[in-house]
Amino acid sequence: MQITGTGHAGMRIDTAAGSVLCDPWVNPAYFASWFPFPDNSELDWETLGRTDYLYVSHLHRDHFDPVHLKRFVSKKATVLLPEYPTSQLEDELRELGFTSFVRTRDNEVCELDGGLRVMIQALTSPTDGPIGDSSLWLEHAGVRVLNQNDARPADLDEFARLGHVHAHMLQFSGAIWYPMVYEMPAVAKRAFGKQKRDRQFDRTWRYINELGASHVFPIAGPPCFLDDDLWQFNDIFGDAGNIFPDQSVFLREYAKIGGSNGVVLLPGSVAEVTAQDCATVHPIPVDEFFAAKREHLELMRDRKRPIIEAEKSTWRHPEINVLKEMKMRMEPLLQSSVYIAKGIGSPVRFDLVGYQDDTTESVVIDFDNREVRPYADERARYGFRVRRELVEHLIFTDEGDWVNSLFLSCRFSATRIGRYNEFIYAFFECLTEERMQYAEGWYDEHERAVDTEDIVLGDWSVQRRCPHLKADLRRFGVVDGDVLTCQLHGWKFDLPSGRCLTSVAQGVRAVPYQPG
Ligand code: FES
Repeated sequence: MQITGTGHAGMRIDTAAGSVLCDPWVNPAYFASWFPFPDNSELDWETLGRTDYLYVSHLHRDHFDPVHLKRFVSKKATVLLPEYPTSQLEDELRELGFTSFVRTRDNEVCELDGGLRVMIQALTSPTDGPIGDSSLWLEHAGVRVLNQNDARPADLDEFARLGHVHAHMLQFSGAIWYPMVYEMPAVAKRAFGKQKRDRQFDRTWRYINELGASHVFPIAGPPCFLDDDLWQFNDIFGDAGNIFPDQSVFLREYAKIGGSNGVVLLPGSVAEVTAQDCATVHPIPVDEFFAAKREHLELMRDRKRPIIEAEKSTWRHPEINVLKEMKMRMEPLLQSSVYIAKGIGSPVRFDLVGYQDDTTESVVIDFDNREVRPYADERARYGFRVRRELVEHLIFTDEGDWVNSLFLSCRFSATRIGRYNEFIYAFFECLTEERMQYAEGWYDEHERAVDTEDIVLGDWSVQRRCPHLKADLRRFGVVDGDVLTCQLHGWKFDLPSGRCLTSVAQGVRAVPYQPG
């Protein structure tokens, strides 16, 4: 089996029974903030795009690049579809001209021609991307690959039961705006960033150990930031609080815990994976590439500047009345929301900074009273400060997911009083009736699910499944004193009170363990 790196979470898998192109991403995403790193725009996409199968893991824009798919990927390709509860991914791909689909069933192996076997696991909580994220398992001639990409399943049992995996691709770096955009002292930001960076690696080691694959491929990040406004987010300044470490840092950190089977794929690297071995050829030696990372980024910045400027010129829509439009779009959603609105339960403030930085209009989404209105000099637990043109553009393009556009762009600053509130981002991911209905139904089911099993962790007897997204705490739970940390997303719980310390969320059931 041959695996060609195509950048970020992308790869092309070639077998004697056909080729699968996964998540090809080339064009900038999220308001021209994210670019694939290293640059993959010079690859021979005409050839790579002549593929038998296409797998798009989910609709985040660093995985789903409609412009690129339309231009370069053969419409004769058969799409391997995850089993998502909404048809949005299929609809988007049909719109681009794809007509052949294999609708896989969640966690069921699907037999394709020539002995090619695939299984896709779909994660469907409202926080897993825009209603979904997925991983692809593939087997041919006794060689097995798990492309976990940036999905975070509670465990890898479904893949492990299918036999030893030879190549495991997974995310290790950051893909979020925390803590960089938060208005807080630099020292605190660095400390939170360091915690986040460590947690990302801990989670990665856990998945790697759990599957025990022959070879491990760090993928799905980091992106690079080429706009001058965002340049500081690249991990080239020796900042231990930077959440975007690259593949060379992965190899270094992995070596510290004894990991020696890491394989880095640059765009254009080709790995020949067999049941016994993995031989890789690179377009440039990996060490040499990372030693010149800064130079690579600077040259890339110069090349991409016109693209960024062209995008920026499309954002302003002065004819749009932002307050009126937000009111019209969001109030019906607020009315139909039970769990999300209650979970937020306070005003969220948006400060819209004018084109010339001269005026700021403040708008409040009031989750208690289910209305959108002008800010009234009140206390808002969450606040976002954002340039007006970005919100105008979201309204103009009728964007139904502000997480997969505005928030991932990192082009804003945020304030927060108290703990993280996951419901806020669930709301901004669900700005259509269909998504809101789905998310509300999911929370309803989640809340009703009875979780009665307990396990022993340290000196405590605790519920087996994490109250957040049901990770198995036998694997992801770590007790330190009176604090339980679930390493899947890093949420912490105070064991004596059960209270969640990380977020406004359900607490954990815990009592001191009594042997016998
Ligand atoms: S499942 Fe998310 S922190 Fe446990």
